[in-house]
This record gives sequence, structure tokens and C-alpha cells, in this order.
Amino acid sequence: MISKSTIARIIDTAQIEEVVGDFVTLKKRGASLIGLCPFHNEKTPSFYVSPSKGIYKCFGCGKAGNSINFVMEHEHFTYPEALEFLAKKYSIPIETTGNVVEEKAIELEKDSLYIINTFAEEHFIHNLFETDEGKTIGLTYFKERGLRENTIRKFKLGYSINDSTDLLKAASQKGFKPDQLRKAGLITQHDSRDIDFIRGRVMFTIHNLSGKVVAFAGRSIKQNDKGPKYINSPETDIYKKSGTLYGLFYAKNEIRKLDECYLTEGYLDVITMHQAGIENSVASSGTSLTPDQVRLLKRYTKNITLLYDGDTAGIKAALRGVELILEEDLNVKIAVLPEGNDPDSYLQKHTADEFKEFIAANAKNVILFKADVLLKNATNDPVKKAEVIHDMAETVAKIPDPIKRSLFIHECSQLMGIEEQLLLSTVNALRRKKMQSETNVSAQEARQMEPDTTPFHDQDKNTLKPSGDEVQERDIIRILINYGDKTIGNEGITIAAYLAKELEDVEFDNNLYQEILNENKTYVAENINKDSKSYLNHDNPNFAKLAQEVLFEHYDLSPNWENMHNVSVKKPEANYFQDIISAVNRLKHKKVERMKRQTELELKTERDPEKVAELQKKHMLYQSWDVALAKQSGTVISH
Ligand code: GTP
Ligand code: MN
Repeated sequence: MISKSTIARIIDTAQIEEVVGDFVTLKKRGASLIGLCPFHNEKTPSFYVSPSKGIYKCFGCGKAGNSINFVMEHEHFTYPEALEFLAKKYSIPIETTGNVVEEKAIELEKDSLYIINTFAEEHFIHNLFETDEGKTIGLTYFKERGLRENTIRKFKLGYSINDSTDLLKAASQKGFKPDQLRKAGLITQHDSRDIDFIRGRVMFTIHNLSGKVVAFAGRSIKQNDKGPKYINSPETDIYKKSGTLYGLFYAKNEIRKLDECYLTEGYLDVITMHQAGIENSVASSGTSLTPDQVRLLKRYTKNITLLYDGDTAGIKAALRGVELILEEDLNVKIAVLPEGNDPDSYLQKHTADEFKEFIAANAKNVILFKADVLLKNATNDPVKKAEVIHDMAETVAKIPDPIKRSLFIHECSQLMGIEEQLLLSTVNALRRKKMQSETNVSAQEARQMEPDTTPFHDQDKNTLKPSGDEVQERDIIRILINYGDKTIGNEGITIAAYLAKELEDVEFDNNLYQEILNENKTYVAENINKDSKSYLNHDNPNFAKLAQEVLFEHYDLSPNWENMHNVSVKKPEANYFQDIISAVNRLKHKKVERMKRQTELELKTERDPEKVAELQKKHMLYQSWDVALAKQSGTVISH
């Protein structure tokens, strides 16, 4: 693991405007910089970078974060990969903690697999273009399949010579050991001697997300070959079949740009589609889609169109993947090609535009598609029809979004000609059962299964109404995160300390805000000064996410927001002293108001004269607090 001090150094050194500036052209706009968002397609810039806060935010697509988040998002790096990238950029030496020797060994092992695979890739390409056998057999085959040379080169297609030790010999000459070749799955033992794993086949190179070579697939080209049509590298430390999508390295930018992905079955489907200019295409490589593959795709888009062969096997394969995709809350359509066609063969007969038109005209929502297919097999058979209804209920029950779910219940019941209520109650029963069978999941997971009702959740900010005093509480947390380390007044007390003192007896309605407040109290007691960057890089991801949101919040608010919600809207950096006093007072005012209303309610029903007198006294006390608060913050309170 990279040490904390190295991470801190990277965070301090990596200037957001420099990191983003490597990828996006930025122009100055006030205290911020502005440019075209690299994460979605736009013509007018809505992508802001704040050098002073060290963060970026796009007001078009909502992506936001710090330097590390930026490279993670933009380059699809993991957290450690992003740190390494930035460390390299700024020449910061990386110190590691934990079992360094073991980790280094694993790293070296993986690196050596990449190196040996890259060698093999180059060797197969060399065979294809430079050897007689490769040219006459392999290259001819690819050309007959309609591939142009630049396509063959782009996808690093190759050829394995029909000789049991061609690769082994070449690799040995370069100093690679049989042991390494075996680990990479490039050679295998046969009659206790080493031979090449794939021989006499055209070769497809399989790349990971960053374009490194992780595996190969060899397609048979012999007539009457008894062996399998494709032979795949075995799984290794760098290749997990279930977590790989063929072509994703070449397709990822286009998928993100178009916010849509075509999912096919075969290597050649992907390559032919790319060659035809349809570059948002990947393949699941014959297996039905796995959860890892779905999650991989979800990083780029939520809209997937499955392109399947019109034969029954193709349809079955499509339907197997459906529930998996639904569970991940993706929007899935399916376009079934005319029987006997896959995308590759269709494109041999039609132009790209015709292909796209076909998809547009034939893509059906996958749930309705499934209902359609199942119903066709169940006409006039009441028992079968009952099965279909149950089957569809199970599919629909997988949809996490309650609104989408009810929509599909409506549409499916119409399609199947049954009462909507019947389908609804079946779906609900299934969901209850699912919840019960998952009673041993953690509280956190259980909450995620419920529709989210927390205020300010993600992009839904404007549609979900905050409850109680949360608007005011958030205002205070916003100020704490933004300006907590700044001092106010002549005594030089920090805002963090001011808040800790002023809010000592105040309980927040929102748990997360309360946790931040509690933590702040500890920091203040220990004299630790926390700035906005330290919140952004907080170990607790919920804190970090909130920090990302509130650091730009002021720009988010509409002009009416101030009046509607009783919070302050000023230019971000302006006058935070007055800001904080008002925010605290507003919150206290709201809390006092509530206590006042509570006593008023109690007064209405209370008969005991002694208790009534007590309540009246309480009410007057609250009233006086209110007046004092109003004076302090200059707000006029009318009642
Ligand atoms: P072509 O026939 O050359 O057009 O290839 P294809 O991709 O259209 O083949 P097909 O539709 O038969 O299979 C789709 C995908 O399933 C392939 O691209 C492979 O990823 C996978 N596949 C097919 N046959 C085999 C096999 O025998 N073994 C393995 N491991 N995978 C296979
Ligand atoms: Mn095919």
C-alpha cells in the first residue's frame, strides 16, 4: 500500500488546474477556470475548476472531485493507479507500507506477464504480416472476412504458426523462461514436453481497460477442424474471463460520448462494427454476461443495446443476461438480427447506416421483449400462461427503481392481458421474500435496497425535499467544510471552533451532518486545523462525497433558493464571518420555533393549571430567545 505521507504529498503537490489542464483546455473565469467537460458531450463549457479549492465540477453531468478523482474518472484508473500516475507526473517517490516485499513480488509477477504477453502479441503480428504461412493463410483469411489492413493492425490481430514450438523458440531466444510462458498460458505440457498452447490459428489479442495485453483467442481456420472454433488463453493473474469485455479499450471513449453501448457476442462482430464506424461496441465473448462485466460497462453508460443472433440460441443467451443487467439498474434494449445473422455478417451485406436504422427500428425494451417471447410459446395454454406471468413477475421484481418497476408492471400486464393488480401483488410478494431471505445482509446494504429518501441524494437534489432543519444544517456544514480553518473576529478563533462552541447543545436531524459536527468537536479540542482539502480526502467516503458536493454548492442554487429555503446565497468566498453567524442563528431560530410550536400544542390540551403556567413560562423563554436571535442576525421575524 502507498503510505499515508506519500498520499498527502501527492494531494498537496498535484494542482488541480495542471492535472485537468493536461486533458482539457481551460480558460480563466473569475476565481475559477472553465472548459468543455471531458465526461460528456457539450458545446458550451460547464466544467469548472477551482484552483483554490483543488476541485472540479461539471454542472452539465454532475461529475466532481479532486485531482485524484479526475484521473480515476478520466483514465479509468483505480485509486492506487491514480496515485501512481500523479506521483510520476510530479516526480514524487512512492513510499509503501504493509508487506512491501510480497506486494512488490506480486507487482513484478504481473508486470512480467504483461511483458511476455506483449512479446507474444508482437510475435503473432510478425507471423501474420512477415511469414509466408501467416500471409497466405492468416492474412488471406482476415481479408476474406472483409477486414482492412488498418483494422487488422489496430486490433493487433495476428497468426500462430502451425508448429508446436514456434512461439516457445522465439521466446526462449529473447530470454523468456518456459516457466514464465507457462504462467502466461502461452505454452502447455504435452507428453511431458512444452508446446505452444495455440497453433495454426488466427489470433485475437485481448486487452484490458488500459490497453495492456492480458490474453489471446485463436480461431480455427481449417476446414473440418475437430477442435473448438475458438481457443482462449487460460485465466491468469492478469486475466479473468468473467471480468473482461472484448473491445472495451477501443470502445470506451465512444461509449461515454454517445452514452450508449452495443453488446455483441463475438470478436469479429466488434471488429467489423468498429471498422464500419460504430465504435461503441464490445463483446461478451460467447459467455452469458457476468456481473463483473455489467459493472464494468456501468462505469461508462447505463444504456445498453444487446445485439443478438435471431436464432433460438441467441435469444436464449440474451434472456440469460437480462436480469443481471436489470439488477444493476441499467436500461436495456435488445435488437434481434434477422435469423442466421450476427452483426458481422449483417454488416457484410448492409451499410453502417442501414445497420443503425435496423437497430433503431427493432430495438425493444428487454422486459417487453421477454414477455413477448414467453407469450408466443404459451398461447392458449392456461398453465403455461400462469408460468409466464410468474416468470415475468420475477424479472420485474429485479428492477431496483420503484418508478420504473411500476411502469413495467403496467406495460407487461397490458401485453399479457392480465389485471395490473395481479402482477403488482406477485411482484411485491417476490420482493418481500427477497428482502426476508437477505435478512443477514448488513444494515447498510439493506438500506440500499430501499428507495433512497435521504435529502440531497446525488443528482436528484431538486426533486427530493429535505426534511426538518436539514437545509439549515447543511448550510452550516457547508461553511465548516469550506472555511473551517479560517479565523473570525479579533480573537482569531477559527470557524471550526466557533461552530463547536455555538452548537454544543444542538442536535442535528441529519446523522451524517451530526457525525461531521462530532468529529469537528474532537479536532477543535485537540487543536487540529482541518481545511477543505482534508475533507475532500477524508477516509470516510461519505464525508468526502459530501465535501465534493458542498464545495461548489453555492453555484448550484437558483436565485429563488434563498427566499424559499431561508439560507444564505452569497458569492462563495465573500463574508463568511457574517455568513456563519447568520447560519447558526437561522438554525437555532428554526429549532426554537419548533420548541415553541410544541409548547403551543401542549398548551391547547393541558388542563392542569400548574402545568399550564409552566408551559407558558417556557413559551415566553423561547420567545425571548427568538427575539435575541433575530436581533443578532438582523433578521426580521414576524409572527
Ligand atoms: P465467426 O464465426 O468467425 O464469425 O465468429 P463468431 O464470433 O461469430 O462466432 P460465434 O458466433 O460462433 O461465437 C461467438 C463468440 O463466442 C466468439 O466470438 C467467441 O468469443 C465465443 N466462442 C465461440 N465458439 C467458441 C469455442 O469453441 N470456444 C470458446 N472458448 N469460445 C467460443
Ligand atoms: Mn460471426
